[in-house]
Parts: sequence; structure tokens; C-alpha cells
Amino acid sequence: MSSSEELYLEYQGLLFPRETHSAESLKFAQEFTLKDDDVLAVTYPKSGTIWMQEILPLVLSGGDLTRVQTVVNWDRAPWLEETRLAQVVDKLPSPRALVTHFPYSFMPPSFRTSKAKVVYVMRNPKDILVSSYYFHQMAAFLEDPGTFEEFMEKFLDGRIVFGKWTDHVKSWRNAELGDRILFITYEEMVQDLPASIRRISDFLHQNLSEEVIQKIAKHCSFQSMKANTMSNFSLCPKEYMDNDKSHFLRKGRIAGDWKNHFNSDHLARFKSVITKELEGENFSLPWSLD
Ligand code: A3P
Repeated sequence: MSSSEELYLEYQGLLFPRETHSAESLKFAQEFTLKDDDVLAVTYPKSGTIWMQEILPLVLSGGDLTRVQTVVNWDRAPWLEETRLAQVVDKLPSPRALVTHFPYSFMPPSFRTSKAKVVYVMRNPKDILVSSYYFHQMAAFLEDPGTFEEFMEKFLDGRIVFGKWTDHVKSWRNAELGDRILFITYEEMVQDLPASIRRISDFLHQNLSEEVIQKIAKHCSFQSMKANTMSNFSLCPKEYMDNDKSHFLRKGRIAGDWKNHFNSDHLARFKSVITKELEGENFSLPWSLD
């Protein structure tokens, strides 16, 4: 079993998996020139990143399925911070769809001066914790999570890649980006995907027809994405992601899997830490922490 130091790179106080990040890639990201028509899916890991990564290029291309069926997701809408970006950036069609787990303070100066837009996906943190717990079991580039209790403590302390969930949410909620940012929840996407895609399309002034919205929703359903080798990470070698242990597209359709993992002590501990972390913030969470 590899240690945290072997697996993770610490950069400006945050941990990043060495497998896909380097000091050079992080510097490259922070010096990256964003264009006015770029659109970024911003998430804390396990909030629905690859789902939005699938949706954005489809909305931006008017529902053209060619790229989602022929280009792997990490090249189709690359992560800003990952080593892969430098290799594929010149091949991205405009308007570009990108993805990032960066907290707001890590964004390049060009983001602040550009008109690039952000779709920020939020998810109930209890479900993020559960999703992340299983992901740490199957991804060899992440530390072994230990027991559920141990992993919860790491999550609440931010001793995991990309730091604390609360810091990430606070940084983007307080970013004051006006009409450049759309906040959407994973849960509303689970509940009504076509309506969520309509919100995204309107936000990006794409004016998609109902037929195209339905087509995108069909392609981005849990079942379709789980079957799409360009999106389900099955092309990733087993030594990086072991699908025998868990799947990237694991439960998905069900919001509230936390209920199968949290006991009353977990719930009380989780609620007290998150509530304290968010004290005094002028936004409220769309879910109850009970
Ligand atoms: P679960 O582990 O709860 O199933 P990320 O992409 O940020 O790593 O998030 C992964 C989570 O998003 C996983 O949650 C995965 O199943 C879920 N997900 C990915 N695509 C989805 C889809 N089309 N519909 C519903 N959930 C999806």
C-alpha cells in the first residue's frame, strides 16, 4: 500500500493525485489563458463532474453526439489542472468545455478578466462522502480510505485531495461572478435531467429545441453513460481503477445513498462539523444535514 506522500503532491496547501497532476501541470493551469467563450464545469470531486463533463459539450454543440461517442471524456472536456490538458488543448473545438476541481483562489488570473462561464455542480456532502469512500477503494492513485469512520474524519478535516468540501463550496459561492456562474445540484439533475439541461442551455444562451434537450438527456442518463466506453472509465487500466472493487458510475440514480452508510453518531458528527464550518456564511445549503 502506498503512502499519502507517494500518492499525493502538495501544492499551495492542497493535495493533488500525482498520477494525473504535477507541479508543472498546476503551474500551467494557473497561467492558462481562458477565452471568453470557454465554459467550465466546476466541482468538488464526486459531485457529478463527469456527468456535467458529458452534458456541456453536447449543449455547446447543439446535441451533436460525434465527440461524446468517439473521444474519451478526459480529452473531450479536459481537467484544467491535469497533465493531460497541455497535450490536448490545441485540439479542442470552440467553444471549449473544460472541467476543474480547483477552489476559486486557484483559478488563473485570465479567468477573472475573461467572460468565461461556470456551471458549478453541488451535491449533498453526505453522498459525496460515500461516493468518495468507494472511489478511494477502487482508484489505486488515491490513498486507501480505511474504515468509513476514519475516512469521514479525513473528509471533515480536508486531509484528502482537493481539501475540504466546505472550503470549496465557500470559495465559489463567495466568488461574486454574477451571471457568469450557474449553481446547479446533482439532486435536481437526478430528479429532472431535461429541466436541468434546459437551465444550462438557457444560461449558455444556446436556445436548444425540446427535441435536442431530450436527445441530450437520453445520452446523459446513468444507463447510457455507464454503457459508453468514452465516459465510463472502462478504458482506464485496471491497475489505476479497479472496476471489480467499485464502478466510477456506481449508484448514481439514487440520491441519498448516505442513508445506507451513516449511523446516528456519524450523522451527528458530520452535521456539527459542517454546520460550524459554514457558520456566518450568507448562503444556505439546498439540503438538510439531518
Ligand atoms: P455515486 O458514487 O454516488 O454513484 P464525479 O464525476 O464528480 O467523480 O462524481 C461521480 C458520481 O457521479 C458517482 O456517484 C456517479 O455514479 C455519479 N454519476 C456520474 N454520471 C451520472 C449520471 N449520468 N447520472 C447519475 N449519476 C451520475
